[in-house]
Amino acid sequence: FFQQIPQAAPDAIFHLTAQYQADTDPRKVNVGVGAYRDDNLKPYILPVVKKADSILFHNESLDHEYQPIAGQKTYTKASSKLILGEDSPAFQQNRVVAIQTISGTGANHTAAAFLAKFHKKGAICLLSKPTWANHKAIFNNVGIQVAEYPYWNPSTRGLDLEGMLAALEDAPEESIVLLHACAHNPTGVDPTREQWQRIADVVQKKKHFPFFDCAYQGFASGNLDQDAWAVRYFVERGFELFVCQSFAKNFGLYGERAGNLTVVTRTPEQAQHVLSQLEILQRSEISNPPAYGSRIVDLVLNDKQLYAEWNDNLGTMSGRIIEMRKRLFEKLQQLQTPGTWNHIVDQIGMFSFTGLSPAQVKVLKEQYHIYMTDNGRISMAGLSSKNVDYFAESIDKVVRS
Ligand code: LMR
Repeated sequence: FFQQIPQAAPDAIFHLTAQYQADTDPRKVNVGVGAYRDDNLKPYILPVVKKADSILFHNESLDHEYQPIAGQKTYTKASSKLILGEDSPAFQQNRVVAIQTISGTGANHTAAAFLAKFHKKGAICLLSKPTWANHKAIFNNVGIQVAEYPYWNPSTRGLDLEGMLAALEDAPEESIVLLHACAHNPTGVDPTREQWQRIADVVQKKKHFPFFDCAYQGFASGNLDQDAWAVRYFVERGFELFVCQSFAKNFGLYGERAGNLTVVTRTPEQAQHVLSQLEILQRSEISNPPAYGSRIVDLVLNDKQLYAEWNDNLGTMSGRIIEMRKRLFEKLQQLQTPGTWNHIVDQIGMFSFTGLSPAQVKVLKEQYHIYMTDNGRISMAGLSSKNVDYFAESIDKVVRS
């Protein structure tokens, strides 16, 4: 029956990486995939992760046995505390449970599969326009239809708050609303605290279910607590919610697939019920989660000194990204590139949404060997002191042509 299987299109982001790798031009620039690079454009193993690697290597008591279905409690609890805060009322009231997932994608998937099984039948999931390309696929895979709420306003190159609020208001009651906890992917535009309050008001009024995706805690501002503000605010207001956590970016553990799904319920009993159902799902899908990456995170989150070092490492990464934003902005100003470019420095996190058109993106790839997604998103981590001038000059030429 294989003869009836159509060829699928390659994944936009990973295909871009492959095209970049195959390019032999020495000027080539990869601002496609959101993966941190150091100033030599090399993958960065966080010093604290190297230290944890060595501790694990010398730990004679570790073995390769199965992990518990939901992962180790020390890991899931520390991960949930990281996002909700040590003193979260939800912890004090035993209303938090969590399950280790296959990084952020797995957290999104497990959460979506749970909602497909237990949430109101036919409920839709509202995604920001634009959002990470995988969100739609993840929800559609489990049979949940998605709709979009306006998010990016091309004329202000900022948030379309009024459009967003109107769409949330117009959506059927009890919809699922996917929100980026911080460092919105792909736009780099986050709501302000006042704007989050208005978003929460509508979500509450319409009895929507808040579904947070948090892949960049520590990457947006460099401050873990500040980047968790929106989630903590929703918890304080008494929402029940999901938070998907990825440690790919903030620990540089991309290939280790360490993630976590944190659940906040209204009562301790509900929390246990939800956990029991998540475990049933997990068992049929992955049986139990992989150990290695989660051991590193577990070690670092539960050790004061390592935790402090991790904070320093986060500062190194977020600091370099902020520096690149400045350098790119200054160079474009110096070149007097037509258009306004303040958004490059105003946006936050791994990505900047340049406002370049698909046609300009194509020229940049074909003539300048610069690889970015069709929507004009650039991963700031793909820029360095060595290529930022070339990058800006190429943008300048394409914008003028
Ligand atoms: C990205 O958006 O580039 C990253 O989150 C990598 C991915 O999985 O798509």
